[in-house]
Amino acid sequence: MKILGFESSCDETAVAVVEDGRRVLSDAIASQADMHALYGGVVPEIASRKHVECIAALAEKALSDAGCARSDIDAVAVTYAPGLIGAVLVGLSFAKSVAWGLGVPLIPVHHTRGHIAANYLAFPELEPPFLALAVSGGNTLLADVAGYTDMYVLGATRDDAAGECFDKAARVLGLSYPGGKPMDSLAQQSSGGVYKLPHAEVTGAPLDMSFSGLKTAVVNLAHHAEQVGETLDRAALARDFTQVVSDALVSRTMEAARLTGRKTIVAAGGVAANSIIRADLLQACREAGCKLYLPPLRLCGDNGAMIAAQGYYEYQAGRTAGMELNAYAACDISESV
Ligand code: KG4
Repeated sequence: MKILGFESSCDETAVAVVEDGRRVLSDAIASQADMHALYGGVVPEIASRKHVECIAALAEKALSDAGCARSDIDAVAVTYAPGLIGAVLVGLSFAKSVAWGLGVPLIPVHHTRGHIAANYLAFPELEPPFLALAVSGGNTLLADVAGYTDMYVLGATRDDAAGECFDKAARVLGLSYPGGKPMDSLAQQSSGGVYKLPHAEVTGAPLDMSFSGLKTAVVNLAHHAEQVGETLDRAALARDFTQVVSDALVSRTMEAARLTGRKTIVAAGGVAANSIIRADLLQACREAGCKLYLPPLRLCGDNGAMIAAQGYYEYQAGRTAGMELNAYAACDISESV
């Protein structure tokens, strides 16, 4: 079964063709990051307009890269939530028109379920059940994935996503948007141990997280240094900041593994590309006797293939939608439309 997958929830327009949920035939991506870098972050209205400009050409490219005619497509999968509402609506409206025009089923896909499914593309043997740590620019959560379409949240951030925190901390350190990757490179230049930053705990919810206080602490440190004419050790700050994020993510993940008894752990999302978080997760899983799946870097960020992959399993579970399908800015990973 060949599925054409559409992703437009933030600043990447992406269209891909995936066969039977596992084999990538094409994966076309148009990133808008350079445009948003001018403003230091994503400007939602610009994101929507850029999606409109390139989505049709990108769909043609995905088909031609896959060597597919339109008539070869069996279904269309699309991100319907969560994300920037205008941006999601562009991909959703376009995908609806393609499904209607081709006369094939329309499959709604939750964006974070897609991130988790990126691992199915890299690891043919991977099957639920497992524990997923999904950590990106807009979402940070731990989910128990009991089946391909059967998952619920064990813990999540109460405020900012870890990726948002990386991007804003990077901005005050003078790094370009998106800040996760340059922060990673900068952090690698120091062993840290210089700055004391807050580790947040959520009382009564040991698997929940909070990153807004950490973000504010880095912003305040940088502004204070500027005001008093102090030179910051930027590499040490990047390292210490990353270590706090990594400790929060890794400790919650291992606690969730202990509580659920799951022995397989899957990482997902843009922040799962971070070298320190990857190394820390690997070590913690080794010590706990858990099997860890880390997606290759190219599958950590937003892409259309992950949406088509999860779309295959949503279709198998009988989840298709009509033309009334709406977009949502927020949506729990366990919910189905
Ligand atoms: O998954 P993604 O591409 O988009 C969303 O679904 O949000 O994640 C983007 C986020 C950005 O915040 C970006 O700075 C972060 O992932 N990111 C990283 C790294 N590479 C990307 N954060 C930390 N370390 C990295 N190496």
